[in-house]
Amino acid sequence: MIARLGDFQFPDSVARLYPDTPDRPWVLEVGFGDGRFWPHFAATFPEAPNYLGVELSGVSLLKAHRRLRDAGLDNAILTKMPADVLVRSVIPHAGLDLIVVNFPDPWPKAGHTDHRLLRVPFFQLAASRLKPGGMILLTTDHDEYFEFACEQARASGVMRVERTDPPAAALETKYALKWRDLGLGVNHARFIPTAHQPVPHGPTTPYPEDPTTVPHAVLTLPDTFSPQTFEKVTERNPGSRGAEEGGAWTVILLDLYAGLRRDGWVVLAHVVEGELTQEVLIGITAREDGTHLVRLAKFGGPIITTGVKAAVGVVTRWLEAQGAVVKHHGY
Ligand SMILES: C[S@@+](CC[C@H](N)C(=O)[O-])C[C@H]1O[C@@H](n2cnc3c(N)ncnc32)[C@H](O)[C@@H]1O
Repeated sequence: MIARLGDFQFPDSVARLYPDTPDRPWVLEVGFGDGRFWPHFAATFPEAPNYLGVELSGVSLLKAHRRLRDAGLDNAILTKMPADVLVRSVIPHAGLDLIVVNFPDPWPKAGHTDHRLLRVPFFQLAASRLKPGGMILLTTDHDEYFEFACEQARASGVMRVERTDPPAAALETKYALKWRDLGLGVNHARFIPTAHQPVPHGPTTPYPEDPTTVPHAVLTLPDTFSPQTFEKVTERNPGSRGAEEGGAWTVILLDLYAGLRRDGWVVLAHVVEGELTQEVLIGITAREDGTHLVRLAKFGGPIITTGVKAAVGVVTRWLEAQGAVVKHHGY
């Protein structure tokens, strides 16, 4: 099944998420891609462990969902969000038996290592979410990232590193097959917690969302409206409850494009809320009565958060500054 952020509790529990199999081990896979690892790995257990997969790509989410459903893996939950948000806010302390990371994005360019997942903060967070005896399994073709991850694990002060052979299932993923076809080898390590320092959970409602209403506004554009006047717009809201409470957002309107099929435009917006960053599209579409509809596009499956709603407001306010008159809005 696919779970959206709003389907989780913060933190959640294995008993609530897997009511039919609460006593089985719990495995988290980060960046599952098209989902090939889990059917192979699950088959190595007498009963498939409870599985939680987290991905950033909506296309991968749908491919993996089809694959796991066809494999009859009923106690598998897939979700689309950044892994660190899920681990911090949703996973309870000492909840997981295993965290699997196969072929993580290596961010090879100089100055980009901050984007890597396997750094000290993630190891400390993961150590507090693993059960005693639990571990992280990393398989990667990327030698430099592998060494980097091993160093970061040691530097975290809470992980021991064991270099071993990868599980056979990790050699069946899309990226594993790609590297194998090129004749390249892989590295594998287990990161085993040596200390349990509880890392606090995130806010109890990290990104409140209301899936029932798509944020929108209806307005009348002036005859003089010209999309050429568009310039990058940045709005920030520090949040009445402070960034730690999840109320803060930054919205940057990056660009405005003419619509190809419909009369209107599309605005590309970058929305940052704590650790969650989303790129969303906001349409400005002509309606039959001469007004325009400003509405979040569902393309890419955005998580409808406070910040994403605010982005529709930022576009609307920019249009007001160009002379538009707002008839009503819901954001
Ligand atoms: C190189 S691919 C590997 C996919 C798959 N594990 C495989 O071996 O074929 C890395 C995947 O990690 C996902 N990813 C990157 N950063 C992520 C994050 N912070 N949280 C969740 N998924 C992430 C990407 O969307 C991408 O699908």
